[in-house]
Amino acid sequence: MLSKLDILILFCAIGCTLAVENDTTTTTSTAPPSTTTTSSSSTTSSSSSTSTTEAPVSTTTTAPPLPSPEIGEWNSTCLKVRFSAQLSFSYNTLDNGTKHTKYNLPVKSISKNDDDCNQFNETESIVLHWVDDKTKEENSFKLSFYKNGSNFGLGHIVIKLQPKTLFPDANNDSVQLIYNSNSTFVTPLKMSYHCTRGQTFNLTELVSSSDIIGTVSFFVFNCFP
Ligand SMILES: *[C@@H]1O[C@H](CO)[C@@H](O)[C@H](O)[C@H]1NC(C)=O
Ligand SMILES: *[C@@H]1O[C@H](CO)[C@@H](O)[C@H](O)[C@H]1NC(C)=O
Ligand SMILES: *[C@@H]1O[C@H](CO)[C@@H](O)[C@H](O)[C@H]1NC(C)=O
Ligand SMILES: *[C@@H]1O[C@H](CO)[C@@H](O)[C@H](O)[C@H]1NC(C)=O
Ligand SMILES: *[C@@H]1O[C@H](CO)[C@@H](O)[C@H](O)[C@H]1NC(C)=O
Ligand SMILES: *[C@@H]1O[C@H](CO)[C@@H](O)[C@H](O)[C@H]1NC(C)=O
Ligand SMILES: *[C@@H]1O[C@H](CO)[C@@H](O)[C@H](O)[C@H]1NC(C)=O
Ligand SMILES: *[C@@H]1O[C@H](CO)[C@@H](O)[C@H](O)[C@H]1NC(C)=O
Repeated sequence: MLSKLDILILFCAIGCTLAVENDTTTTTSTAPPSTTTTSSSSTTSSSSSTSTTEAPVSTTTTAPPLPSPEIGEWNSTCLKVRFSAQLSFSYNTLDNGTKHTKYNLPVKSISKNDDDCNQFNETESIVLHWVDDKTKEENSFKLSFYKNGSNFGLGHIVIKLQPKTLFPDANNDSVQLIYNSNSTFVTPLKMSYHCTRGQTFNLTELVSSSDIIGTVSFFVFNCFP
């Protein structure tokens, strides 16, 4: 199993803090400002990204803006994370239309025991769930990280929503939103990132799909051993 020290973090935005975690010492440095991005799958970033996600579509109505999401803290058996996330996606409505909306990951979400920890000593993930009070239907948000040699990287994000439990005008179609990347934000083991800048990822319905059906924006992302 990976030790606590091996838990790292990613989501490095310009200005993120890189911390070396140790039982006895904690050294903190600030990542140098950089105007270049080495990953070809770089993300759109900054809190101004909201202006880029709402391409007008004639059949789409847009919900009013949401406040920034609250910051939550969750732990699985292998990870502890602290972040806020806002989703942007569309769902089908009862009148057969489509509605574009933003939705904040609720901080009441819980991490349950189905997290994958150290599967094949390579995977660490955390699954957050939140259940609709009335329908008892479950929504989930899974973050997976992969170890590759002495580095760690974001593997994927899988979000499963039941819009009907979230919006009164939604029909019962479920929505799956996936971000998939083997090599984004590759970070040395034993490092953690503490980000306070926005990061936005495009989401598709299937791993193999290239159609962008939504985005997830992290306003804060910390990961702790
Ligand atoms: C952690 O502490 C140990 C013992 O003090 C030291 O040998 C090691 O280099 C430290 N690791 C890091 C990443 O600082
Ligand atoms: C996300 O999608 C938008 C348009 O849908 C595109 O302009 C942008 O480059 C995409 N970002 C990434 C990181 O692929
Ligand atoms: C999260 O941490 C708490 C307290 O440290 C612990 O009781 C709980 O079992 C942990 N949850 C998981 C899923 O490991
Ligand atoms: C929605 O579509 C279904 C099937 O096409 C149709 O039967 C139903 O009347 C439509 N509902 C509305 C409100 O248009
Ligand atoms: C994971 O690592 C532990 C300890 O390093 C080892 O005993 C175990 O066989 C490994 N499991 C797999 C599936 O590689
Ligand atoms: C979802 O809604 C459609 C049309 O309203 C209905 O035919 C179907 O049975 C519903 N499915 C579930 C799982 O409720
Ligand atoms: C992830 O890695 C696998 C195997 O190395 C590869 O087949 C797949 O295309 C990669 N996916 C991405 C998004 O890079
Ligand atoms: C793992 O790391 C190696 C060396 O850095 C790199 O060549 C390879 O593409 C990485 N694999 C994945 C799936 O990211």
